Amino acid sequence: MPSRKPLPPVPGPRGVALWHSLRQMRRNALTEYLRLREQFGDVVRLATLPHPVYLLSHPDAVHYVLRENACNYRKGLLFQPIAALQGEGLLTSEGDLWGRQRRLVQPAFHRRQLDTFAAVIVDEARAVVQEWQQPMQTGTPINVAERMHRLTFNVVGRVLLGADPGALDAYWGTLRVIALPLLQYINARATRPWAPPLWVPTPRNWRFRRAVAVYDALVQQIIAARRQAMQRAGGQATDVLALLLAACNGTSGAGMSERQLRDEVITFIGAGAETSAHALSWTWYLLAHHPAIMRRVHVELDTVLGGRPPTPQDLPNLPYSRMVLAEALRLYPPSVVLPRQANAPDEISGYAIPKDAVVMISQYVTHRHPEFWPEPEQFQPERFTPAQAAPRHRCAYIPFGEGPRRCIGEPFALLEMHLALATIAQAYRLQVVPEHPVAPEVAVTLRPRDGLWMTVHARQ
Ligand code: HEM
Repeated sequence: MPSRKPLPPVPGPRGVALWHSLRQMRRNALTEYLRLREQFGDVVRLATLPHPVYLLSHPDAVHYVLRENACNYRKGLLFQPIAALQGEGLLTSEGDLWGRQRRLVQPAFHRRQLDTFAAVIVDEARAVVQEWQQPMQTGTPINVAERMHRLTFNVVGRVLLGADPGALDAYWGTLRVIALPLLQYINARATRPWAPPLWVPTPRNWRFRRAVAVYDALVQQIIAARRQAMQRAGGQATDVLALLLAACNGTSGAGMSERQLRDEVITFIGAGAETSAHALSWTWYLLAHHPAIMRRVHVELDTVLGGRPPTPQDLPNLPYSRMVLAEALRLYPPSVVLPRQANAPDEISGYAIPKDAVVMISQYVTHRHPEFWPEPEQFQPERFTPAQAAPRHRCAYIPFGEGPRRCIGEPFALLEMHLALATIAQAYRLQVVPEHPVAPEVAVTLRPRDGLWMTVHARQ
């Protein structure tokens, strides 16, 4: 609520310090965000062009922007690079279009529907267990980050897009080839707003356009295969792609275009696979560095499951492994920033925010806010016991965002990660290979920069 009295100037670096800060951000944005909060406080202004940027770290401000006054904030400028790939999919669209699409796919994420995904998730996790037998025997390191991505991609392909498991190898092969040029373009545009726009024929833009063309062809293939399978099977399929296709064919009355369908499929592949894969990878990484916590996970799994595959009904009886996942998502949130742009002037935490200003909420920073997280860099799953979690500010922990744009896939991701962790951790212990240092890198999501190379060990 804007106040009438004059508001104080917002603290932040100026002159050479600003230039230095922006340079640091391109090198290591997360460390620089943390430093700025420490030096200037919970609201920091960066006098950038074309609009100033405000870094907001306090959970009260998070609540205000994402929930209480969410209608004043659009996704805006910083989502444009992602929109160059995803068009007007659920993540990037706004207003009525977003509301309609969200209502349309919501039934695919209902609790009862989610439980039907469990068998596929466990099946894919057991394939990993099977595949790691050999590297365990030979001691050959494996790139766990890549294997987790393959796992979550297969799950999204099978349960959200209704893809035939036999086709997934080919789909994955195509995606692997185009991943780099897509990422390079989106990153360049996100970190350097002055980078040449897409219509300028630079080599990077050209590679991006070619990759998008290949992606479009792949999506057409996935859609055509699903259409054929639905025609053959008849009946009421309820996966995301089936719901979208029904809207496209006009059977649900929503009248969706083929272009919108393409945007949604690309959005679900992008948002649904990479995020959960990174979260699982960081969990393995943290467990490898905390053997006592790993042992507690093993004891819990042995006591509750006794060697059998987990089911969704087991998960409430595995609270410790659930807390481990929650704490990994706190320290390494796959989505590290939630940028928004102000539709109208506003007042946040006693400071004036002009129209069109960019406000940046960083999960990475808020999850380390010392007022809410003592010893913030320590991996302590006990932070998520009901006794510790209940009194905490609800917006101090936002790995899935908050408010109307909160992640639609949250329950699905939590189910998937819990079942995958329970299945794989029952069989193995993983150790980081010391010759392959692990460094976090922001490349749309927070990933281990050079992969996560680990050796596989039998439980004993
Ligand atoms: C650990 C895993 C995941 C994390 C950390 C995560 C994080 C997020 C966050 C922070 C947002 C909000 C973005 C914003 O407000 O600007 C979001 C939105 C979204 N996520 Fe997730 N996500 C995960 C898994 C998934 C999965 C598995 C799916 C698909 C099944 C998914 C699909 C989406 C979609 C479609 C949106 C846009 C929702 C909307 O605006 O209505 N996410 N996610």
